[in-house]
Amino acid sequence: MYKALIDKLERDCILSFEEYLTLINGYKEISDYAAERASAVRNRIYGKRVYIRGLIEVSSYCKNNCYYCGIRAGNKNAERYRLTGSEILNCADEGYRLGFRTFVLQGGEDAYYTDGLLCGVIKEIKRRFPDTAVTLSLGERSTESYKTLKEAGADRYLLRHETANKKHYSLLHPDTMSFDNRQRCIKDLKALGYQVGVGFMVGSPYQTNEDLANELLYLKKLQPQMVGIGPFITHKDTPFKGFKSGSADLTVFLLSLIRLTLPNVLLPATTALGTLKADGRERGIKAGANVLMPNLSPTDVRKKYSLYDNKICTGEEAAQCLGCLIKNGI
Ligand code: 5AD
Ligand code: FES
Repeated sequence: MYKALIDKLERDCILSFEEYLTLINGYKEISDYAAERASAVRNRIYGKRVYIRGLIEVSSYCKNNCYYCGIRAGNKNAERYRLTGSEILNCADEGYRLGFRTFVLQGGEDAYYTDGLLCGVIKEIKRRFPDTAVTLSLGERSTESYKTLKEAGADRYLLRHETANKKHYSLLHPDTMSFDNRQRCIKDLKALGYQVGVGFMVGSPYQTNEDLANELLYLKKLQPQMVGIGPFITHKDTPFKGFKSGSADLTVFLLSLIRLTLPNVLLPATTALGTLKADGRERGIKAGANVLMPNLSPTDVRKKYSLYDNKICTGEEAAQCLGCLIKNGI
């Protein structure tokens, strides 16, 4: 029965809520077959090539207080740093030299990064390296700001929706944040012509398998260019310190379901997946993922971008990060 459902999903690229739920409930029995079919679909569209994006973590300051996140404003133990415009450009220089052609500027919601500063950085990256794509991942901003940044040359924006369930959203975030504003941001980004990446954590507190089935229907409807998912990982200095981390196996299975649902999607095997299981990212790639985002942040700040406990790749130089992925057979 499970096999027939995977075959149906490969054929139709959509299942009903009940069918998705059946697969998620029984995933242990069917994950190998799902990975095999998802890899085949990815190979047919993209070949075996894995897309590499250079991640520059620009700031560990954040005005928000997501209950799960280690860099939340309320975490007094978090060490804070922010990169200046020229430090960001130095990371891009180094990345370009190493062969990176996409830079992802990611950070907490930090008012230091005004539109003026960001437009300068984006334009300068594009001037120095016209053959690169600039991706932003800087959280919720105004419609006007997204427009200004797009006009300055930003190509893509990653903003995880975190959960497609409004009630669940309110259990993960304080009242100062809203599901509706997050959806407004995603809608704006699409309308402005960004290539958009959304995503969610697997095994976040209060998430049910029904929620996960709905995530797949949400993604199908939204048709994003990229979907970033990773397991929730407990951070000791957050309100969710008492909750267990999510499952790497279930995350890998969901990567396969996402590949089969959105065959053309760019699908990263995330650092969180690699943190929870040593071979997590490799297994993600084998299950249908096709993007890796090695860290290009300066070595001395990496440990401070601590979204969850025991994050990997916080010690190495950028070049070593790339080398390590290659060594591990990716
Ligand atoms: N575990 C896993 N992922 C997390 N993120 C934030 N905190 C955690 C955590 N404790 C994810 C969120 C956010 C992205 C940048 O990192 O989904 O959107
Ligand atoms: Fe910064 Fe969630 S804590 S956006």
